Amino acid sequence: MTAPPDRSGTPAIEVAGASKYFGPVTSLKDINMTVYPGEVHCLLGDNGAGKSTLIKVLSGVHQPSEGEVRVGGQRAVLATPRAALELGIATVYQDLAMLPLMSIKRNFFLGREPTRRVLGLKVMDEATTTRVAQEEMRKIGIDVRDPDQPVGTLSGGERQCVAIARAVYFGAKVLILDEPTSALGVNQAAMVLKYVLQARARGLGVVFITHNVHHAWAVGDTFTILNRGRSYGTFTRDQTTREALLEMMAGGEALEELSVELSEIAHQDGLRPQAKA
Ligand SMILES: Nc1ncnc2c1ncn2[C@@H]1O[C@H](COP(=O)(O)OP(=O)(O)O)[C@@H](O)[C@H]1O
Ligand SMILES: [Mg+2]
Repeated sequence: MTAPPDRSGTPAIEVAGASKYFGPVTSLKDINMTVYPGEVHCLLGDNGAGKSTLIKVLSGVHQPSEGEVRVGGQRAVLATPRAALELGIATVYQDLAMLPLMSIKRNFFLGREPTRRVLGLKVMDEATTTRVAQEEMRKIGIDVRDPDQPVGTLSGGERQCVAIARAVYFGAKVLILDEPTSALGVNQAAMVLKYVLQARARGLGVVFITHNVHHAWAVGDTFTILNRGRSYGTFTRDQTTREALLEMMAGGEALEELSVELSEIAHQDGLRPQAKA
């Protein structure tokens, strides 16, 4: 759990020399990024830096204009989000593709519900669906008394956790999280961060997008900083400091405000991959 990831094997996912142009707009220019199994790779950058565009390239929403994506060491053409998902790349978007009135268990499965045959017809296996949803939620520390209750009754942090639990349950190798903590308060953000570390401990490669350096530092092994579509480079934890990341991001802007949040997160046990502060 606390050891740095093994970077000697095959990366879970890589982008090499990726650029993305929308007509005259350059959203990404010559981006390289490598994510290993069991690694939390934080993608940092201010609004408009290109973070969402890059994860859309990784998740099959956009094709790179130049460069390539490799999955498990092989060049991959991710023509659609479905194609990416089939290669084990699960993306949790900030708006979550969750229907607030839909039940928690249907949200957990989203079209992949277990089925059984009744008189030769495939029907949803209600009992298994309920049991699995309940078990998987319990594993992440959310006690759902009634998996038939609407997902809208969960907190924002719990909803993020449902989406992460779903990706892990369905065997994702790469988990991409677009700003999962940005709309959350401290306690809920800590819950999501804890679950990011659980996914890491299970060997997933995690791409964690955020503009909050403190959240990144709480869980990250590796940090790539984007600025106006270009990369400032990739740094492992022992190659940088939180302060250096803050400076690269915004010249240490709003440091005081964020330090309150930081100290509260630091109190959550076991959140840091390594002891270094
Ligand atoms: N579909 C698109 N068409 C044109 N420009 C886009 C499109 N998507 C993103 N951009 C532009 O690319 C840049 C990076 O955007 P984005 O990837 O959303 O940044 P971030 O997620 O870091 O805030 C912005 O200038 C944005 O306006
Ligand atoms: Mg974005």
